[in-house]
Amino acid sequence: MELKLRLTDDGSHTLYRKDIDENYHSTHGAVQESEHVFIKNGLNYCHKALFKNHISILEVGFGTGLNCFLSYLYAKNNKVRINYSGLEINPLNDSIISQLNYCSNNQEQLIFNNIHQFEWGKWGSVSDFFKIKKISSSLQTCKFENKFDLVYFDAFGPRVEHQLWNKKWYSKIKNFLNDDSALVTYCAKGSVRRDLISIGYNVERLEGPKGKREMLRAST
Ligand SMILES: C[S@@+](CC[C@H](N)C(=O)[O-])C[C@H]1O[C@@H](n2cnc3c(N)ncnc32)[C@H](O)[C@@H]1O
Repeated sequence: MELKLRLTDDGSHTLYRKDIDENYHSTHGAVQESEHVFIKNGLNYCHKALFKNHISILEVGFGTGLNCFLSYLYAKNNKVRINYSGLEINPLNDSIISQLNYCSNNQEQLIFNNIHQFEWGKWGSVSDFFKIKKISSSLQTCKFENKFDLVYFDAFGPRVEHQLWNKKWYSKIKNFLNDDSALVTYCAKGSVRRDLISIGYNVERLEGPKGKREMLRAST
């Protein structure tokens, strides 16, 4: 799996996977995309609109850990407690992770390193308000042990992974959602939206991050 580090328009890094000709994030800005789709329309929504202060998050596609890191910063600044489960089918190696430029000071870098150094498959504490378990498995094969309030659906898109974007896997997630929960994704494809609705999610089309017209939020 050949990966190349690339700068996006907001100055933050993404990774480019040559074999599938796909970036890990929007080239208009990795951090701006993550902040908009997952933090503002996911975590902030779950906290402020669903009134949750203790939030269990599942991320499908942990990748660089950017969404996890930004969730940690949100939790710290907003006094929220988070249990974070990160699913990843292809964990990245340390040499590529060490080149990512997501941190603005040494303290943040320590947290980012800490997130990546935890052993896979075990719960660890990044702080007293943020616990993490990284799971080296696919959504299709993993066995969940707890329920979730919020899902970051951030695998590669339907062009690359059409076998993942269907009702079977949206239902698997839905069975592990608490009441008043939400799934957010950067993908706004009509067939994805219709499939989510057909299995009982309430789906909103929201304004997309820079460079993209729409995104989806599916609630229970
Ligand atoms: C678009 S990238 C986003 C990664 C990550 N959220 C980030 O900010 O770096 C998609 C990630 O999903 C992972 N992935 C793809 N299919 C998956 C699956 N079926 N289950 C779990 N992870 C998957 C990929 O290996 C990749 O790391």
